[in-house]
Amino acid sequence: MSGVEIYPGAAKARMRTLVTGGAGFVGSHLVEHLLDLGDDVVVLDDLSTGSARNLAGVADNPRLEMIHGSILNTKTVSAAMKDCDRVFHLAAAVGVKLIVEQPLRGLRINIHGTENVLTAAIEHQASVLMVSTSEVYGKNTADRLREDSDRILGDPLLSRWTYAGAKGIDEAFAKAYSDQEGLDVSIVRLFNTVGPRQTGRYGMVLPNLVGQALRGQPLTVFGDGQQTRCFSAVEDVVPAMVAIERDPRARGQAYNLGGAREISILDLASEIIRVLDSRSTIELVPYEQAYAPGFEDMRRRVPDNTKAHDLVGYEPHTSLTSTIMRVAADLLSRERLGSDAMPLSGVGAFRGVI
Ligand SMILES: NC(=O)c1ccc[n+]([C@@H]2O[C@H](COP(=O)([O-])OP(=O)(O)OC[C@H]3O[C@@H](n4cnc5c(N)ncnc54)[C@H](O)[C@@H]3O)[C@@H](O)[C@H]2O)c1
Repeated sequence: MSGVEIYPGAAKARMRTLVTGGAGFVGSHLVEHLLDLGDDVVVLDDLSTGSARNLAGVADNPRLEMIHGSILNTKTVSAAMKDCDRVFHLAAAVGVKLIVEQPLRGLRINIHGTENVLTAAIEHQASVLMVSTSEVYGKNTADRLREDSDRILGDPLLSRWTYAGAKGIDEAFAKAYSDQEGLDVSIVRLFNTVGPRQTGRYGMVLPNLVGQALRGQPLTVFGDGQQTRCFSAVEDVVPAMVAIERDPRARGQAYNLGGAREISILDLASEIIRVLDSRSTIELVPYEQAYAPGFEDMRRRVPDNTKAHDLVGYEPHTSLTSTIMRVAADLLSRERLGSDAMPLSGVGAFRGVI
C-alpha cells in the first residue's frame, strides 16, 4: 500500500498487533498494511458483518493468525491479546440499517465489547488505537467539524442514535482509562470511508449505489438527495491510522480522518452512473419508506482534517472516480466468485471459535 512510503515512521519496529474486526472492510485493509510493514498480526473477528474472504489474499501469510470469536467474551479478548504490543480496535456493530433493526445487540457490542478490549489492553500493557466515527457529531452541520465541535444528537430513545451514543461512550471510556489507569490509547473518527470489500448489505450508500448501477437498476437515493458527505478512500485512511497510533503525542486525543470533497448523495449517484457508463436512472425514496417513520439523517457532514494533517501529514488524495471504479471491479469479482458469505472452509485459515 502507498502509505508505507507516505508515513515512513510507521515502519520502525516489528510489532505483534491485534486487530479486532480485522475481517471487516476497513480491518482487512489495515491487516494487509500491517503485514506489509512487517508486523505479526492477530485478527479477532466474529464474522458477523465481516468475512474470511476479505483476508483471502493474506490467509497463507505465516505472520497472520486469525481467531473466530467475539469481543463480548472477556477470556477470548484476553487470549487474543496475549503478547501483543498494540491493538487496533475496529470490531463493532455498524451500519445504520443493522443498528436500527438490532439496537440492543449494537449497544452491547459497542459499549461492553469495547470496554473488554480496553481492560484487556491494560492487563497486557498494549497500546490501543480506537476507531470511532463522525456519527458522534450527530446533526451538527458546521462548515468544518473539528474534534472539539459540539455533538448534536437526537432523542436517545430513537434507535438511530444508539450507534453515536455508544461510540461517544467508547471515547469517554478510552479517555478515562488513559487519564486514570495510564492506558496508552488514541482515537480516530472515520468519516464515510469507502473502497473495495465494503458491503452494501447494512445500509452503506456507495457500494449500494454502485451495485444498482452495475445491475442497471434505479439508484435509490433517500430523501431529497441534497444531504452531503465527504467520502474518504480506505487506502488514504489506513496508513494514517497506523501513523497516529505510533505517535506519542496522540495519546488521549481524537483525530478526524475524512475526505476532502463535499458531495450530495444525488450528485454521487449521477457520478456513479457517469463513471460506470450505466443506463440506470435515479429514484428518490422517502426516508420513512427506507427506514422507519421519524428517521433522522444528517444534512451535512464535513470534516476538518487539520489536526491529523498537523500530526502525521494526513492528506486524502484518492479521487472519488477511482474509488467508484475500484468498488465496481470488486463487486463484479465477488459476483463472479459467488457471494460475500463464502464459507470459512473456503479460506481455511481461521482458527476455531475460542
Ligand atoms: N466504514 C466507514 O465508513 C466507517 C465510518 C466510521 C467509523 N467506522 C468504524 O470502523 C470500524 C470498522 O468498520 P467497517 O466499515 O470496516 O465495518 P465492518 O462491518 O466491515 O467491520 C466490523 C467488523 O467487526 C466484526 N465484529 C462485529 N461484532 C463483533 C464482535 N462482537 N466480536 C468480534 N468482531 C465483531 C465484524 O464481523 C466485522 O468484520 C468500526 O468500528 C466502525 O464503527 C467505519
